[in-house]
Amino acid sequence: MTHVLLVEPDPEDRRQLRQLLEKGGFGVKEVTSADLAKPFDISDVHCIVSSSAPHPDGYAALLDIAGSVPVILVTHDGSVAGAVAAIKRGASDYLSYPLAADELTAAVQRTTSSASVTTNRADFPMIGQCSAMRELFERIAKIAPTNASVLIQGESGTGKELVAHALHAASTRQKTPMISLNCAAIPSSLIEAELFGRDDADNPTLDIPRNGLLEAANGGTLFLDEIGELPTDAQARLLQVLREGEIRRVGSTEAVRVDIRLLTATHRDLQKLITSEQFREDLYYRLNVVTLDIPPLRERDDDVLLLADAILVRTTRKLAKISMTFSADARRAMLDYPWPGNVWELENAVERAVILCDGKNIEATLLAIKIPKPHPPEVQVAATDQTSLEDYFVSFVTTHQEQLTETELAEKLGISRKSLWERRQRLKIPRKKTKKRGPRRDST
Ligand SMILES: Nc1ncnc2c1ncn2[C@@H]1O[C@H](COP(=O)(O)OP(=O)(O)OP(=O)(O)O)[C@@H](O)[C@H]1O
Ligand SMILES: [Mg+2]
Repeated sequence: MTHVLLVEPDPEDRRQLRQLLEKGGFGVKEVTSADLAKPFDISDVHCIVSSSAPHPDGYAALLDIAGSVPVILVTHDGSVAGAVAAIKRGASDYLSYPLAADELTAAVQRTTSSASVTTNRADFPMIGQCSAMRELFERIAKIAPTNASVLIQGESGTGKELVAHALHAASTRQKTPMISLNCAAIPSSLIEAELFGRDDADNPTLDIPRNGLLEAANGGTLFLDEIGELPTDAQARLLQVLREGEIRRVGSTEAVRVDIRLLTATHRDLQKLITSEQFREDLYYRLNVVTLDIPPLRERDDDVLLLADAILVRTTRKLAKISMTFSADARRAMLDYPWPGNVWELENAVERAVILCDGKNIEATLLAIKIPKPHPPEVQVAATDQTSLEDYFVSFVTTHQEQLTETELAEKLGISRKSLWERRQRLKIPRKKTKKRGPRRDST
């Protein structure tokens, strides 16, 4: 049974919250203020629900006693600013009066299902509790405080950048900024000057800074993302810096000593690039003093649901929508789907579903991840992050309206017929006279 500690000074609110929680099947203990809660009150609860928090002192005391137990805040101030302030101060979730019957229950379920989530750093919470992710968190904790170069490998959208931030934030260099460069995003003709600086008096190029990023990162951390895209000349120069601990600006013979913690990431197979001579083997060995392999989402067991729930809370809040939950079908579909775009794709699917959802319950169809095989173009539409929801809607409707009735279309989109009609009007997609279920010959 999930146990909830209710911290509530107001007797009427306390009675109402207690009733709602008990109705939801939770065990409830109550205290009238955070100061009155004893360590043993906290030790066996999964979650704290309180509305005493708006008072700044009350909130500090509450967070103090809560430790790692998640806190759900219920307030009389239903503003977005109020929600943001509460979350910033550390609340796990935020609800406002008047509470709908199952709203509190859903919030407690959501919060407690992700309570054991490892947040190795408050600023960069990484969600995951499958064994592969736990192992990853342990390795991050071990490696972060050292000066070892780390190579972060994983498919697109698995969280490589998040890991780099986590490593820096848990390192001894956390007080210095981490300087990041995406090697794929900068033309190869500029990358050397960008990284190593330029000191070429005869050929001053105004828009290139004299100091390169390596000098700027001196004393701190440099994160080179997409390191597989680094041109070979720049690879040679970088290797030299790593070997000698000093850099020479382009065009200069003078050396400057630097002390840099180097983190790199790639979604490419560097071994293959070495074989095809696109990547220097000697550099590879310098970069991967430690390698962190981030598992793809499809290998993370139930973590996909933890992530989905967290993304759902964040997205509904961001879009100022009511709290929502996933239907059992939607949860099943998310577990079954292979998520080739990993967490990026999950974020897009959830965001799209939240926008299209008219009620509180997100059905599987709304996630648009179980796309029938005969329509491969749709997969692309669903997976690109640039695609706006409206584009998606238009494409879905125009692709399927020949085969599906309006009711079926609405069902597949997870919206009501009325809102399908409204969106058709707004987006100017005239309703076709449907030939039901494809071509058919008149046999009668
Ligand atoms: N374990 C996680 N917990 C919470 N959020 C995550 C997790 N992993 C990834 N994300 C989120 O997923 C998105 C993609 O993460 P990130 O940018 O770190 O991935 P990446 O591997 O660098 O992707 P790309 O290959 O596209 O550069 C971000 O919004 C990030 O916050
Ligand atoms: Mg990245």
